[in-house]
Amino acid sequence: MAKKAKAAINKKSAESTIAPNIPKEGTSVQPSIQFIEDLKKQWLETIDALPDPFMIVDQNYKIQKANRAMAEASGSTVKNIVGKTCYKVFANRSAPCESCQMKRSYHDQPSQPYELHQENNKKWYEVVSKGMTSSENGHEKKVVLQLYRDRTETRQLQQQVAHQEKLASLGQLAGGFAHEINNPIGGILVFSQMLLREVDPSTSHYQDIKEIESAAKRCKTIVEGMLDFSRKRPIARKLTLTNYHETIESAVKFAFIDKSQAKNIDIAMDLKARHFEGLSDSSRLMQVFINLLTNARQAIKKSGSILVTTANSGNEANHQRIVITIADNGCGIEKANLKKIFDPFFTTKEPGQGTGLGLSIVHGIVQDLGGTIEATSTVGVGTTMTLTFNAVTQ
Ligand SMILES: Nc1ncnc2c1ncn2[C@@H]1O[C@H](COP(=O)(O)OP(=O)(O)OP(=O)(O)O)[C@@H](O)[C@H]1O
Ligand SMILES: [Mg+2]
Repeated sequence: MAKKAKAAINKKSAESTIAPNIPKEGTSVQPSIQFIEDLKKQWLETIDALPDPFMIVDQNYKIQKANRAMAEASGSTVKNIVGKTCYKVFANRSAPCESCQMKRSYHDQPSQPYELHQENNKKWYEVVSKGMTSSENGHEKKVVLQLYRDRTETRQLQQQVAHQEKLASLGQLAGGFAHEINNPIGGILVFSQMLLREVDPSTSHYQDIKEIESAAKRCKTIVEGMLDFSRKRPIARKLTLTNYHETIESAVKFAFIDKSQAKNIDIAMDLKARHFEGLSDSSRLMQVFINLLTNARQAIKKSGSILVTTANSGNEANHQRIVITIADNGCGIEKANLKKIFDPFFTTKEPGQGTGLGLSIVHGIVQDLGGTIEATSTVGVGTTMTLTFNAVTQ
């Protein structure tokens, strides 16, 4: 092999920590084709072993090289993605991502790591790009290396912390407000009820006072909701062994006690969990289920169905979870609203129809009980609320 080629190989292997043993300078052993093949194989294996996806793209965003992690993150194979555009393969877009720094890197301008949302996989990546020169068949060309780091977990944690902080400060505000307003409302209610006893029911005054009483009652409900949300209300200090199935059945009975509200709603239960007991607080759980069932019922405009299911998840015998879903085929929730539904006072209902506190209270209770809640929804198709709680296995 020519001296120049050998020097190039030695230079390359000096940069790589994975090169096979290299013949020393000045020895008579020449690097063989096999040696170069081994070097190439080891290099490719190393790239494929990297857990972070990466690719090399040309100036037209076309993928020149990619590792296995990149193919997996794109739901394809390396062979299939080479030659296609990075934005189509990775982000399923028809044009480059807004924050893409590829062109800057290509022109050797300073570039910033940027965040990329992979919508179909619900993942977040931090992308770092760097311009470099690649040689192929003796020709050198400019390409850009793009390295993707999975930041989904960090982002979820950040969002949770931000949400908790927001809820905590809103809770404080709501709690203080509710506390102050509780007494005057109590006064209005008591005095209107006293007046109702004194006034002749056939007079128009009686009806006016009735209006005052009903408005005060509504305020009381809102205040109670706010107190619930701010968790100023006592919650069971000791959790007791609770039967989730029985609680669901009672909540369904209660939520549909008024048959006139549910005459065109088909409600079905498929309670399949084998482990359906857990340490919890049945009255708080009832509150959760009733709220969710009420929302489901209200989402069904003319007729429809609600299905409540349970199942177990988790494979370790002692760490079983019960997964409860409440699915309706009602109006569904717009994508932009989906992230707001657990916020206090968020409502799409007509003024006077909803306080927007239901789901924020549900969220608080579920957290207190060591559970999780998630909503998925499609407009015009329906909504599914998925709850998980610990279940005991013996
Ligand atoms: N199953 C569902 N289907 C469609 N939209 C829903 C569903 N559940 C909740 N929502 C949406 O989330 C919003 C917030 O719900 P939440 O229970 O917190 O308040 P609300 O039902 O509007 O009022 P409240 O519960 O105080 O009577 C609702 O106004 C509605 O837009
Ligand atoms: Mg509600």
